[in-house]
Amino acid sequence: MTILITGGAGFIGGHTVLAFLDRGEIPIVLDDLSTGNRAAIPSDVPFFAGDVGDTELVLRLVQNHRIDAILHFAAKIVVPESVADPLNYYLNNTVKTHALLQAAVRGKVKHFVFSSTAAVYGNTGSKSVSETADPAPLSPYGRSKLMSEYMLVDAGEAYDLRYVILRYFNVAGADPAGRLGQSTPGATHLIKVALETALRRRTYMSIYGSDYPTPDGTCVRDYVHVSDLARAHLAALDHLRNGGESRTLNCGYGRGYSVREVVDTVRNITGVDFEIRQAPRREGDPASIVANSDQLMKLGWKPELNDLAKMIEHAHNWESKLIAAESRTAIR
Ligand code: UFG
Repeated sequence: MTILITGGAGFIGGHTVLAFLDRGEIPIVLDDLSTGNRAAIPSDVPFFAGDVGDTELVLRLVQNHRIDAILHFAAKIVVPESVADPLNYYLNNTVKTHALLQAAVRGKVKHFVFSSTAAVYGNTGSKSVSETADPAPLSPYGRSKLMSEYMLVDAGEAYDLRYVILRYFNVAGADPAGRLGQSTPGATHLIKVALETALRRRTYMSIYGSDYPTPDGTCVRDYVHVSDLARAHLAALDHLRNGGESRTLNCGYGRGYSVREVVDTVRNITGVDFEIRQAPRREGDPASIVANSDQLMKLGWKPELNDLAKMIEHAHNWESKLIAAESRTAIR
């Protein structure tokens, strides 16, 4: 049996492809390369360029490759972009998930692992949030993912399909062995932006909001290493393949860092004292969001890389590699 990974050319999907290869399981990848990078996919992994919303294409892949599990990463993920263009988010994250689920059900796929997000919770206050909390998303992005969660839960009730919904907190870092990292052009995530500023690809960076009800007034997030998150997908799929019931699970470390703490750590790791400007709050940003991931740990997931400095170091190594590769291309 084979796994289909949608969005496997992206940041999290790509690291998950590596995690499966590392344990000797070769998945197939479907990605439209809208933000993903073809070069991220190792040559021994069958790759199909296409749209997850194309039910007939997915059905063909399911039948031709005897797919028993779909891991669905392909999505739009930028909170402010979703505020500016919500219909595009509902199309990509909700409508296309519906089409994919239809193909899964028609193709009798048994297992589905869905990339959801902490953004479904909205503001959680200073305590860590567990899966029993009522969702109250603050952005179209969070709502587009929550709607897909609801579809999946209902599909799980109605059809012979079991699922794990993984609600990711703030994903960062890069493969510790240096094989992969965040390559999405124009990525807006905090650690990526801070590293690009330290590496002089930007002249300064902004901190959005300094008057949040948090210890230093900047937003608090639970940063989870992408390779640990990738391994959470192995645990989720093993749970399903072993007959486990459908679950909705958080994936984070249970420790929050403020934007200022992250920026200070980037300055320490890189040794560069780059310029920071204070900017107004960004729309759709919750003040603080930290995971309680006890349930995922009960499934066998163990954090191995839960160290902010290490995470930034791995991302820094990757960012430096990207810059070196670009300058080699420019010289040629
Ligand atoms: N931030 C800055 N300056 C920047 C970039 C970010 O101050 O240049 C701040 C943001 O305002 C926010 C924090 O850093 O307070 C983290 O922002 P990110 O853009 O890195 O991430 P988000 O928390 O907005 O969202 C991310 C993912 C979502 C996921 C969410 C879960 O993009 O997919 O984490 O918490 F849902």
